[in-house]
Amino acid sequence: MPKIIPEHLHFVSRKQEKPYPMSEVFNENVKLHPSTIHAVLPSAQFSELELSAMTKGYKQYPHATRIELPAPNEMMGDARTFNDVVTSRKSVKSFGEESLSLPELSKILWLSYGAIGKVNETGIGNRMQRVVPSAGGLYPAEVYLGIRNVKGLCQGIYHYNVPNHALELLFSGDPTEQVSKVCCDQPYSKEAGVIIFISAVLARTKSKYGERGYRYALLDLGHLGQNIYLACTALELAVMTTCGFFDDVGNDLLKLDGLDETLMYVAFIGKQKK
Ligand SMILES: Cc1cc2nc3c(=O)[nH]c(=O)nc-3n(C[C@H](O)[C@H](O)[C@H](O)COP(=O)(O)O)c2cc1C
Repeated sequence: MPKIIPEHLHFVSRKQEKPYPMSEVFNENVKLHPSTIHAVLPSAQFSELELSAMTKGYKQYPHATRIELPAPNEMMGDARTFNDVVTSRKSVKSFGEESLSLPELSKILWLSYGAIGKVNETGIGNRMQRVVPSAGGLYPAEVYLGIRNVKGLCQGIYHYNVPNHALELLFSGDPTEQVSKVCCDQPYSKEAGVIIFISAVLARTKSKYGERGYRYALLDLGHLGQNIYLACTALELAVMTTCGFFDDVGNDLLKLDGLDETLMYVAFIGKQKK
C-alpha cells in the first residue's frame, strides 16, 4: 500500500525561527486534524508475524538466567492510605547504605508495570492487563535494572520479564561504574541500591500510530514513572528520576539499537538515609 503523505504537513516554523525547532516541526506534523485522521498511518508496512511480535507488549530473554520474584506481598506498604501516598511523594536525592529486600523490589516492579490479568481487545486479541494505561494496549516500555544492593540478588544488569514477574540476568558484576558513566556521573549512581532504566520500544507504538506514536510512548512512560514514585513512597523508600544520561552510552550498556528501542528514563531507588 503506498504511504499517504498528509497534505497538512508543516516544515516551516510558524514562529519564524531558523533553524526550525525540531520540537515544533514534530508537534505540527503529528497533530490530528479532522480531515486527515485517516491518513495517520504506521511509518512502515509490517508482516503479520512482525506485527504480532511488536504488539505483544513485552520482551523476553529466553537464554538468560531467570530469577523468579517473590509474589508481591499484598500487605507490604498497604498500611498507608492512597491519599497519604500521593501527597507524600517527592524526589529524595540521598540514599542510605542498607540493602533493599527482594520483596520490596518485587512490589516496586509489580506496582509500576506488572500484569494484573488478561483482557480480550478487538484487533489485538488476548493481552495482559497492566497496572498502567497504554495507548492501544501496546506497552512500549521495557524495564531494565542495574542492581547494586539488593539482599539475595547478585549485582548486575537485569531485565524485568513482565508475564512471568521475574528478572532475567543480562550481565553479572558490579554495575556502578557503567551506570555512573551512563548517568553523567550523577552521584546517585553510586548510592542507589537499584537503578531502573526504562526504554521505549518505539516500533511497537509506531506500528499503529505512525510518527504520532512517539508522543504516545512518552505519555505511557510518564504513567510508569509516576507508579515507580508512588510504589517507592508507599514502601518508604527513597526515589528520584532523571533524564540526565548519555542516551547511546545507556543503549550500548543495555544492547539496544537506539532506533526501534531506546533508553528514555532512569530512576534511582534506595533505602531512606537515617
Ligand atoms: C523527567 C524528569 C527528569 C528529572 N531529572 C532530574 C535530574 O536530572 N536531576 C535531579 O536532581 N532531579 C531530576 N528530576 C526530579 C525533579 O527535580 C523533581 O521532580 C522536581 O524538583 C520536583 O520535586 P519533587 O519530585 O520532590 O516534587 C527529574 C524529574 C523528572 C520528572
